[in-house]
Formats: sequence, C-alpha cells, structure tokens
Amino acid sequence: MSLPPGPRLSFVQSYQAYRNLLISLKKYRQEYGNIFSLSLPAKRQAVVLAQPEHLRWAFANPQLFQVKPEQNPFTKILGHHSIFALDQKAHLQSKKRFMPYFSQEYTQNFAPGMLKIVQKKLNNWKVGEELTLQENMQDISLDIIIRMIFGIEEPEKFLSLKKHLDAMLSYFYRWPSLVFPPLQRNLGPLTPWAKFTRLAEATDDFLFQEIQAHLNCPDSEMSILSQMSKFKSEDGSPISAQEIRDHLVSFLIAGHETTATSLSWIFRWILSSPSWKKKLISHLQKLELNDFSSLWQDPLLDAIIKEAMRMNPVIPFVLRILEEETKLDSYTFPAGTYIVIAIDLVHHDRSIYPQPNIYQPQRFLENSYNQFQWCPFGGGVKRCIGLHFAMMEIKIILAATLRQFALELCPKQSFNSVRKGLSFTPQDGVKVMVT
Ligand code: HEM
Repeated sequence: MSLPPGPRLSFVQSYQAYRNLLISLKKYRQEYGNIFSLSLPAKRQAVVLAQPEHLRWAFANPQLFQVKPEQNPFTKILGHHSIFALDQKAHLQSKKRFMPYFSQEYTQNFAPGMLKIVQKKLNNWKVGEELTLQENMQDISLDIIIRMIFGIEEPEKFLSLKKHLDAMLSYFYRWPSLVFPPLQRNLGPLTPWAKFTRLAEATDDFLFQEIQAHLNCPDSEMSILSQMSKFKSEDGSPISAQEIRDHLVSFLIAGHETTATSLSWIFRWILSSPSWKKKLISHLQKLELNDFSSLWQDPLLDAIIKEAMRMNPVIPFVLRILEEETKLDSYTFPAGTYIVIAIDLVHHDRSIYPQPNIYQPQRFLENSYNQFQWCPFGGGVKRCIGLHFAMMEIKIILAATLRQFALELCPKQSFNSVRKGLSFTPQDGVKVMVT
C-alpha cells in the first residue's frame, strides 16, 4: 500500500500545524507537491488534495466517504435532521427538496427585502466614524436570515429572536471547539457546553412557537420557513417541528458568519486596490440598485467578488473520511483516511492563477474557471446550497454600501487570516473610516 509523500507529525507538530494551518499547508505543498499525506498521531492518516483533477475525483464520488450521523460532531449542535447530519440517501432527499427554494430564480424574490435591510442599516452609519466591517456585516447578515429564512417581520418578535440568536451565535463563535464531541458533555453548569445548551434552549423555545404557528396556519410568504411548513413526510403528514427547527438552525450556522466574513474580505481587497475601487465605484453609479437581474449578471462586480473569494476562501478546505481502502492514481489510501480538499491551495496554484498572491479581478473578466479550480462553496453533492442566496446578498450589500459611502481602510491593522468560529477571518475585522 503506498501513500503520497509527506511529513510524519508528532502531537506538538500537529498542534503547531493546526495553529498555523494555512501557512503549514502551503509549506507542505511547496515541499511535497499537489498531493501529500500527513501522518498524524494515534495512527491517523490524512491526505491533502490540491489539484483540480483530484478535487473532481473527491466531489464526484460521494459513495466513497463515511456518513455516520451518530459520530458527526455537528449532530448535537444542529440536530439529527440537519442536512449536515444525514446519511447519503436522506441527505440527497433533503437537498432535492430544498434546491428549488435556493435556486438562482427563487433567490431573486429575496433581493428587494435584502436591499431594504441594507439601506436601513446604512442610514445609521455616520460620516467621520470608524467601523469594524466584520461586526457590521454579521449584523446585516443576521437580519437578512431572520427575515428571509425565518420569515419574521413583526418588529417585537424580530428583536426578541435576534437577541436570542445573537447570544447563542456569539457564544458559539467564542467556543468553536464545541464542535468536538469530547466537549459536548455537561460537566457542570459553568462549563461551555452547559452554557451553550442553555442559550440554544432559549432560542429553541422561541423557534418552536414560531414553527408551530406556521404549521397550524400555513401562509403564502416566500420565506424558507413558510415553504418548509408545507413539506410532507413520506406518509403524507406534515414534517415535524423538530425537523424544521434543525434545518433553520443549520441554515443560520452555515450561512451567517460565512457570508459576513466573505464580505469583510471582499471589502478588504477592494479598499486596498485604488484602481479597482475607483473603477467599481464609478461603474456602480451607472447601475440601478433595484435592477436585481443586472446587478446579478454584472461582470465587473462578479469578477471583483470572485477574485476576493479566491484570495481568501472563508472555508479554506473541506473534509471527508474514506469508508474503505481506496485507490487514486498510483496511491492506495487506507479506510478511515481523512481526505482534505484544499480549496485554498487550489486557489493559490500558480499554474491556474499566475501571481496568485496578487489581487487581480481582471483574470475573472478574461478567463472562466471550472468548479474544481474556483470552489469557495465546496463541491459535489455537498456543495453549498446557499450559494445563490449568498452571492445575491453580497452583491446587494457591496453595491449599496459603495454607492452611499466612500470607505477608507484605517491604518495599522492586521489582515492576517485567523480562525474565528467556523471560518477564517481578517484578524482585526477590517476597520474602516466612513467618509
Ligand atoms: C459566502 C458565503 C458562503 C460560503 C463561502 C459557504 C461555503 C460553504 C462550504 C465550503 C460548504 C461545504 C461544501 C462541501 O462540503 O463540499 C457549505 C455547505 C453548506 N452551506 Fe454554505 N456557504 C456560504 C453561505 C451559505 C448560506 C447563505 C447558506 C444558507 C442560507 C448556506 C448553507 C449551507 C448548507 C446547508 C451547507 C451543507 C450542504 C450539504 O451538506 O449538502 N451557506 N457552504
């Protein structure tokens, strides 16, 4: 049995590599090439894939990978019905059911509501003040999810749910290690898991009331909750409130921070590239903000966003675990091998993207890249379901903000990419002066 070359790591080395993950992966790629193994302590084996052909293999063969809901670290947080916790068949069924409501076409229905929320938020920004974009983008993104996914409009209910979700999410982002099963135990009222569980239960009390109201009295609203409350189980009965709750919380966790962090990186790159900033701002003045289909298709806006998502994919790799011994090219991987699909490495492959560390939106205007070369949303059957929703939201927020304000990056801040919550964020959150 042969594995690709790669380092054997002790506990200390694994920890150091984990602390500086993005840098370590780049270093190993330089040393070993586009496919390498990491021999981890406790006889754990990982293989890192950083070549589009190998990504194609991993994305096209979901049957090779384990799905063990009971061992899935997200099951306890998101619930047994979450799309992240389902076995192959149930996952596909669930995804098929949701796809129409996350399609490009359906997502357009949310665009006017998204714009309204952004404009309301921007009206509170004041010229001369300093803002941290990460915080502000999280705030806008949460409002958008509460209205479009959860369908809550009524101001009092909205504020109450937002308070609960804010408390639960900030605690989760402070303790991302809660996804590790050994920490998912109640070891006393002051421990992180106990505190998180209390916050999640308070949110659930609110959510279950809302879900029950929808189940009792289905409406014709566009929100994902309204659509879900019309879903039927195999025997024709409505799906359970618990199932709806698990899906709502999954969309929230998967879609909130990722979108806000992507926006922070996009602003970071535009604001530090004077010529692209100038070009985009003058171009945006010519667009109608509420002409959503033009906004959606605009090549310049698209290129500027895609290049920033290439530079800093907020989820720089996705993980799968091999069910059985498997061959790839001349290699054989044992059952249980972690397959690390290294999105960030592919995005920095100089044979695909010459001068990969330079922000050059031009490349997306001149070339098209396939889904194994540009893949910030992952791929295959597990590809992000919220990608159209996220792209629409990003385009609207970016266009509305840059049309209304001239932002300048504050000096002396770090743009190092650091792990916060589930994604990789600019270290100081992108501080800007509103002018
Ligand atoms: C820019 C924003 C976003 C980024 C970069 C992003 C990225 C990702 C990535 C990398 C995955 C894993 C794919 C894989 O394993 O191959 C994923 C999965 C997922 N995302 Fe997103 N996401 C974003 C926004 C959203 C939004 C807005 C929602 C929903 C409202 C969402 C819902 C999901 C769900 C449900 C999954 C699991 C899909 C499955 O297992 O089949 N995401 N996302």
